[in-house]
Amino acid sequence: MSESPYRLAVIVGSVRDGRFGPVVANWFCRQAGQRADLVVDLVDLAHVPAALGGAPGTVTPTAASGAASGAAYSAAEVPFAERIAAADAVVVVTPEYNHSYPGPLKAAIDSVGAQWHAKPVGFVSYGGISGGLRAVEPLRVVFAELHTVTIRETVSFTGAHACFDAAGEPVDAGPVNRAATAMLDQLGWWAEALRTARTARPYGG
Ligand SMILES: Cc1cc2nc3c(=O)[nH]c(=O)nc-3n(C[C@H](O)[C@H](O)[C@H](O)COP(=O)(O)O)c2cc1C
Repeated sequence: MSESPYRLAVIVGSVRDGRFGPVVANWFCRQAGQRADLVVDLVDLAHVPAALGGAPGTVTPTAASGAASGAAYSAAEVPFAERIAAADAVVVVTPEYNHSYPGPLKAAIDSVGAQWHAKPVGFVSYGGISGGLRAVEPLRVVFAELHTVTIRETVSFTGAHACFDAAGEPVDAGPVNRAATAMLDQLGWWAEALRTARTARPYGG
């Protein structure tokens, strides 16, 4: 492990009212937060204007942070592109909608360009019978176009709502915790390898 932890952006890919996504994302962030090799930046697309049809460069003030009146931003107010630029790795937490991923997630992905390049992307998916895997596979094609490396291991929740208790903890934690560890182990390898490579030589994408 290198001396400085890598920066992991965890993207909450659903924005609709009543969404389940934060339950899944918060669990994953707790898992990731136990590791010494990374620091987490939770990026909720519900606060990203590009995901909601706004201009990519603008920011959405949050209830927690108040109006964006000064130079000091809370994390939620830093433009999406800057947060992807600062990341060494990304995990997308995505539901499955009609055998694919949410439209706002695609809008957010498309609002950013070179900030994605030469970085690893992992997936946590959830949905009905397929566990969201029909959202993940088309996302791999999208992220290939953006010069990323997608991680083979995934975490998926079949019948997601029944997988968590009222406190937001997995009902059967063992398998999903192991899946998260396997994915984060691979992600960490790529994050450090590609950070070293980007530092040594700018990526020529
Ligand atoms: C518009 C819509 C389409 C959906 N299509 C699928 C689907 O094709 N396959 C599936 O397994 N689940 C499907 N679901 C179930 C969702 O994956 C599940 O409800 C999930 O919790 C949605 O994530 P969210 O609550 O964070 O928005 C769909 C849900 C919605 C709202």
